[in-house]
Amino acid sequence: MLGKMAVWILPLVPRPVVRGVASRYVAGTTINDAMTTVRDLNDKSIRATIDILGEDSNANEADSVLTEYMEIANKIKALGLNSGISVKPSHFAAQESEGEAFERIKKLVNHCADSGVFVRLDMESSALTDLTLDYYYRLAKDFSNIGIVMQAYLKRTANDMKKLAVARANVRLCKGIYTESATIAYKSRADIKANYMEIARSFLAQSYLKDNNFLGIATHDREIIQEMDDFITKRQISTDKFEFQSLLGVPIDDVIRKMVGKGRFWRVYVPYGKEWYDYSVRRLKENPKIATYVIKHMFGGKA
Ligand code: FDA
Repeated sequence: MLGKMAVWILPLVPRPVVRGVASRYVAGTTINDAMTTVRDLNDKSIRATIDILGEDSNANEADSVLTEYMEIANKIKALGLNSGISVKPSHFAAQESEGEAFERIKKLVNHCADSGVFVRLDMESSALTDLTLDYYYRLAKDFSNIGIVMQAYLKRTANDMKKLAVARANVRLCKGIYTESATIAYKSRADIKANYMEIARSFLAQSYLKDNNFLGIATHDREIIQEMDDFITKRQISTDKFEFQSLLGVPIDDVIRKMVGKGRFWRVYVPYGKEWYDYSVRRLKENPKIATYVIKHMFGGKA
């Protein structure tokens, strides 16, 4: 109950309080902060993907975002880090001009191909699903360092994943974070979870046969992780066909240690940047425990 109240009250919470509580979810505000976090993860045999926080840019901002991502790729290469990057089409101003945003992302993917850096297209709200898939298919024709994200809460995803599997795709599967209508999205946690499992199993079963398919199992849901791990073991799916993925700061270190210890690959999503607020609020909303902490913090209590 208190957790639900905390979620409702979050927009009213002063930024310094949100920043204090949510700092665990972001690497910092600079490229160097991100590099330090990635280095720490790599030292523990964990892969990374770096995200510059922000979305819905205008054209000028999108040009700067492109430059900054190129610099990240250069640093990843120069420092010999095991990290890709994750990008959002709206951060490249896709809502202003689909064509210009595509050209920016293509330039980035080309640059990253030269640096050996993998580029993942994050998935935003359903208004951008078709556009993001279109970008993916066009880029995948020319580049092998490109992947996409699919969301298990969308009813269309099972079908999209079948097509992606046939096309030989590198997919990250997550539950989905945006508010979508019941017409197009499953709303109950149980339905989303069931759809996640079904889609992941069927994609992995196909990828076992198809050479270049790859699945990023992106969730902190311990039941899903366990069930997927059992499925992979039973089917003897080779480790170059999948990896587990989580978000920086979500408390799942015990599972990561266990999985890495048994030879599974794990990747952590490392966001950084000045636009930390919206992202942090999203993460806090998914963590009622921390939201409760925020309320206590605001009213002078101790957590
Ligand atoms: P769920 O929300 O059911 O959480 C499972 C359990 O994990 C919870 O019971 C809780 O214990 C713990 N937990 C989850 N979040 C927590 C938090 N913030 N703090 C503390 N504990 C927490 N979404 C999207 O729409 N587009 C995208 O491109 C991406 N990209 C992406 C990349 C990666 C690597 C991950 C892991 C996730 C995404 N997401 C995403 C976000 C995703 O859609 C989803 O919102 C979150 O992963 C939370 O869902 P879970 O699968 O963890 O399940």
